[in-house]
Amino acid sequence: MSITAIVLAAGEGTRMRSRHPKVAHKLLDRPLVSWPVRAAREAGAERVVTVVGHGADEVRAILADEKGVECVEQTERRGTGHACRVALEGADVREGTVVVLYGDSPLLRAETIRELVGRVEQGDTDAALLTMTPPDPTGYGRIVTDEVGRVKAIIEDKDCTPEQRASLTECNPGVYAFDAARLRAHIGELTCDNAQGEYYLTDMVEVFRRHGLSVEAVHCDDYSELLGVNSRAQLAEAARIMQRRINERLMAEGVSMLDPTTVWVGPDVAVGRDTELLPMTMLWGETSVGEECVIGPNTRLTNATVADNVSLEETVGVDVTIERDVTCGPRAYLRGGAHVLAGAHVGTHVEIKNSVIGEGSKVPHLSYIGDCTMGAGVNIGGGSITCNYDGVHKNRTTIGDNVFVGSDTMMVAPVTIGDGALVGASSCVTRDVPADALYLERAEQRIVEGYAARRLERLKRDEA
Ligand code: UD1
Ligand code: CA
Repeated sequence: MSITAIVLAAGEGTRMRSRHPKVAHKLLDRPLVSWPVRAAREAGAERVVTVVGHGADEVRAILADEKGVECVEQTERRGTGHACRVALEGADVREGTVVVLYGDSPLLRAETIRELVGRVEQGDTDAALLTMTPPDPTGYGRIVTDEVGRVKAIIEDKDCTPEQRASLTECNPGVYAFDAARLRAHIGELTCDNAQGEYYLTDMVEVFRRHGLSVEAVHCDDYSELLGVNSRAQLAEAARIMQRRINERLMAEGVSMLDPTTVWVGPDVAVGRDTELLPMTMLWGETSVGEECVIGPNTRLTNATVADNVSLEETVGVDVTIERDVTCGPRAYLRGGAHVLAGAHVGTHVEIKNSVIGEGSKVPHLSYIGDCTMGAGVNIGGGSITCNYDGVHKNRTTIGDNVFVGSDTMMVAPVTIGDGALVGASSCVTRDVPADALYLERAEQRIVEGYAARRLERLKRDEA
């Protein structure tokens, strides 16, 4: 039977105090709503239906990046029960198992969802829900059990009597699995006769029990997996929890970290064995780092592919590929389409864009290399620049193998420097240079013996 996940994400999230809908805020580098969506997929959900409402366009745009997610719009926010009903009807869900997740609970693991769904799928129960005992139950719906310990009802915090609020410590994290046909048959029986005047999904427990259907509670001991994000403080708390989870996994896999509290690695990043991540390092997007690398301190990579034995010190790399045995930094900036081949070196205050840096080539100091194809064994002297932009077009510079470019050279593209050529320091290269030639563009040198001393004498005399 099929599994459909319904992710509720129509709320505004007033406590975030934001122009953006709550679920658009990012946890690490992934929007909140995408976390339960991915977890549901990983847990085996064939369909993922997301209920959008507040800031619907922004949430839809985020979900457009997630393959095959269906969006249903809840035009009026009338509660979680209403949102779930809108999803069932809007996406015409009739059979199999439905798992309902809240868009503001990003820490839930796929295994936990799978376990809960399994109870309903195997026919053990008509509905199952997770429960937790958080250190502070304020704000959460409370679980009420009957004489034999079965869940009888969920009472929202706002609807609790002071006695209930004090005595009921088991809480509802908002994760449920239902037999789809039964949920669909009875969801219309919810009422909005409560403190908030909303249709509560939590009341389905009582509705199911009234019809003699079974509801099973599964206590989850790890409260940190169920934290709901309602405020920016909780968002930061959730980020810390996820950071720890990811870093502990990486360390268990053989990655070293001098201080894991200062290393931030996104969920889609891979890091190889014996690589060391130094403080203030951030790895985002679809980044992968090979083995035996030293990354950081203070390095940020986004969508970077890094091979083995690479050292990136204080380096920013976005959409780049770095081959083995490369060293970069401190303070290198590699961006869009930089491809640094094996054994190359990109040094201090150097920017590389849309260029190939050839095998073993060196760009050690204060240079800009953009739209350039560079051969192997090249040395670019400090302060050299490819002048790639004429105000309208981006033009290419082509540098052959074993070229030596002296310091402070301007290469005005489009221009080609042949294999083995030598460019004298401070030249402005505007014409192609043949292989093995010397190119020199420099004003004639003059030396006037004793001039400086004579000038100083004269100035002092005039002052006296
Ligand atoms: C809900 C639960 C509560 C539980 C808590 C866990 C209900 C009635 N209460 O309370 O028992 O302890 O979560 O975090 O379910 N949403 C919609 N449409 C709506 C209303 C809400 O899509 O009309 C979405 C929100 O965007 C959010 C989720 O449902 O992602 C939960 O809503 P929220 O208002 O945050 O519920 P809580 O008060 O936290
Ligand atoms: Ca909430």
